[in-house]
Amino acid sequence: MNSNSLVSISDISKEEILRLLENARYFEENPNHKILDGKVVATLFFEPSTRTRLSFETAVNRLGGRVIGFSDASTTSSSKGETLKDTIKMVSNYVDLIVMRHYLEGAARYATEVTDTPIINAGDGAHQHPTQTMLDLYSIYKTQGTLDNLTITMVGDLKYGRTVHSLLMAMQYFNPTFNFVACDELKMPAEYKEFCDKKGIKYTEHKDFSQEVINSSDIIYMTRVQRERFTDIMEYEKVKNLYNLHNAMLDNSKDNLRILHPLPRVTEIDQDVDDNPKAYYFQQAQNGLYARQAIICRALNIDIKEVQKS
Ligand code: CP
Repeated sequence: MNSNSLVSISDISKEEILRLLENARYFEENPNHKILDGKVVATLFFEPSTRTRLSFETAVNRLGGRVIGFSDASTTSSSKGETLKDTIKMVSNYVDLIVMRHYLEGAARYATEVTDTPIINAGDGAHQHPTQTMLDLYSIYKTQGTLDNLTITMVGDLKYGRTVHSLLMAMQYFNPTFNFVACDELKMPAEYKEFCDKKGIKYTEHKDFSQEVINSSDIIYMTRVQRERFTDIMEYEKVKNLYNLHNAMLDNSKDNLRILHPLPRVTEIDQDVDDNPKAYYFQQAQNGLYARQAIICRALNIDIKEVQKS
């Protein structure tokens, strides 16, 4: 395994997280830097994506590298039965870095075991989405001025939501207080609550998305109920519209509150929230470009301090 791979947020230390945030800030100020000249990056998306794939590809282009890859695996030889192992080994022959999204949990970890090329996990099933977490942390830091001692309310699909799983783990270093708002069918899995218990992280679970919860929050992290994760469509129909945020619900919220959402949204944030200055989800997606530029440089062993001197 290449040690520059990023499969789970737990692969990187607090110091590395802080360095990546600092580097993301550098790229926000200097997004066009031709430091990937001669490098080729593969984006292999076995699951649909808008933001993750396009922000990674933009990041590579703005840094002067080249991109190959696919956004629809049905056009590749995996549709003829080629194994993931063979696909990764083949693509490794062509590129310096592989960014991959796959519907199976553990697929990115498996990929690291069959190649020495660094792998960045762009989402594996309901498991982890560590690059989303880096842009979430950057967004939280930018809007709150700190990552420490914040009350973060996670709402919706906490069972299958890989973004909330990664963010929860990353926040272990910053003394958060979590509110988990979900119905029984989609509540935070036991392994993540056990993680909180082990790390001394405070959390409470709620079925109601109450005013009390909203008004105590520094960050509200809304999530989509993911139809694609359900095997029984009737189960999805039962829970898909349980939590909806409307503008009026924010009337007595804290001044510093910001609404985050990894996107895409369906109905969980009403469009009347979009013009509220506390809505931050579109800027959050923009921050993905800078966070991913920093992550790509880490994967390719590019020292930003040296880049700054050049
Ligand atoms: N947040 C996120 O992963 O969005 P995409 O599915 O559009 O990449």
